[in-house]
Formats: sequence, structure tokens, C-alpha cells
Amino acid sequence: MKQNIAVITGASEGIGAALTRLLIQQHNWKVIGLSRNLEKLKFLQNSLSQKRDCLKIYACDVQDFAKLELIAKKNNPADFLFLNAGIYNPIDARKNNIEDYKQHMHINYLGAVNSYEAFLPKMIAKKKGHIIIMSSISGWIGLPKAAAYGPTKAALRSFAQSIRYDLISEGIKVQVCSPGFVETPATSKNNFYMPGLMKVDDAAKIIYKQMDSNKFEFSFPLTFSIFMKIFSILPDRLSSFIIKKFVC
Ligand SMILES: NC(=O)c1ccc[n+]([C@@H]2O[C@H](COP(=O)([O-])OP(=O)(O)OC[C@H]3O[C@@H](n4cnc5c(N)ncnc54)[C@H](OP(=O)(O)O)[C@@H]3O)[C@@H](O)[C@H]2O)c1
Repeated sequence: MKQNIAVITGASEGIGAALTRLLIQQHNWKVIGLSRNLEKLKFLQNSLSQKRDCLKIYACDVQDFAKLELIAKKNNPADFLFLNAGIYNPIDARKNNIEDYKQHMHINYLGAVNSYEAFLPKMIAKKKGHIIIMSSISGWIGLPKAAAYGPTKAALRSFAQSIRYDLISEGIKVQVCSPGFVETPATSKNNFYMPGLMKVDDAAKIIYKQMDSNKFEFSFPLTFSIFMKIFSILPDRLSSFIIKKFVC
């Protein structure tokens, strides 16, 4: 039986690692997993025991377009591209954060664009494929401390909204995933209450389920994401008042 091939950026831990495990262990996929830290990728690979050969790993920074192109060239076309690699650092906007602003844009936004550009040509040649771009609820509305992170997620959402029109005719489906809080190394640095905080394996299961849906954008956990969607379209005077009163 033909095995589907996924390319997952940011596969070494968190949501990327959970989806990698799910695809390989439960759904018989092959995964090409990329991230900077080879040791973490090897650890993930070893944890798959008999199925370890289903995960091909590459130490690769998504800022390195030449390396991404090389990996794409060496491998068969991906059926599924999960543009997930990302960083998150809370920001105090009163301080000088120029390096943080640049780093978030270079990794979260341009890193996804680099990966997209590298793996897209073979999907186009095959006239078939599926891309999910990891945005976030932080891309819907500016939140405190998210001045470096939030704009990258808003940009990714806009990118996904735009590319899908050109890719329809190429047989390539585009979706955007905008989660709330998921328990991963990234959120472990948050020292505030995270409403609806979800287990990473549950998040991976939802992503897998939504891969089959026709929704362009999906979000979870459900209650928190519905609340935030409504919140994001409130008049600014009201939403900023609530944020100042209850979050800041
Ligand atoms: N967790 C949440 O609550 C949440 C909510 C909304 C959206 N998201 C988004 O979901 C994605 C995954 O988040 P997560 O919580 O799973 O984060 P995480 O646990 O910190 O994992 C991030 C992954 O990205 C990789 N990565 C970071 N910089 C990279 C780079 N320059 N090149 C290649 N790989 C890189 C990391 O591996 P290396 O360190 O080995 O490179 C790691 O595998 C992110 O885009 C995040 O913004 C997360």
C-alpha cells in the first residue's frame, strides 16, 4: 500500500512532534521531520521503535532556504506540508526589542515562506498536495506581550488566505490552523492562566481530523476559540477595555 508522505517543520517537539507520532504510529504515514536540534529529532525517532524508519530527520533551520531546497530535491514530493516551526517570546514593548521582532519574523513568517517555496514545486508538478499553516489566535487580535509573535501569526493567516486562490487550480488544498493554548515547551514559559489549555496529543488529533475537512481555517479548543473570535470583532473600545481590566 502506498504510504503518504508528510513534511513537518518544527518536528522535534511540541505540536510538530505530536503530529509526527500520530501520523506514523496510528495512520501509517512517512514523515520528513525538520528542526534545528538533531538530538531532539533523534530522540523522537528512537521513541517510534519499530516504526523509526518511517521518520526521516534533517537538522535544518527554516531560515536556510538553500538547505530546504536540497531536502526537497532529495525526497519524493510531499502529500502534506505542515508549516509549523515557530518561536514565541513575550515582549515588553517599552524596551528595545529589535532583535526579537526580527527573529520572530525571520523564523515564524519567512521560515514558513521559505519552506513553502522549497517544497511547493514538486507538489505543483504532481498537481496534488495539502498545506497547513500554523497561525494562532494571537493573529486575530493584538494581545499584551505579543508584539513580536502576534504580527507573524497575522501575516501567516493573510499569506494562507492569499495563496489558496492560486493553488486551487494546481490541486493543492490550503488550510490555516489557529489554536488557543496547547501544552508544549513554548507555552511552559507562560506564567499566567491559559484558558482551555489543551494536551498536545489532543491538539494533534484535532489537526489530523481537520485535515479531511473542507474548512479553510480551524481553531481549538472550541469554547475558547469561539469566545476569542467574537472578542476579536468587538469594537476596539470594548475589547481594549476588557484586556486592560482583566489581562494586563
Ligand atoms: N502551543 C501553543 O499554545 C500554540 C498556540 C498557537 C500556535 N502555536 C504555533 O504552533 C507551532 C508549534 O508550537 P509549539 O507550541 O509546538 O512550539 P514548541 O514546542 O516550542 O516547538 C517549536 C518547534 O519549532 C522548531 N523550531 C523553532 N525554530 C526553528 C527554526 N528556526 N528552524 C526550524 N525549526 C525551528 C523547534 O525545534 P528546534 O528547537 O529543534 O529547532 C520545535 O520543534 C508554532 O508555530 C506556534 O506558534 C502554538
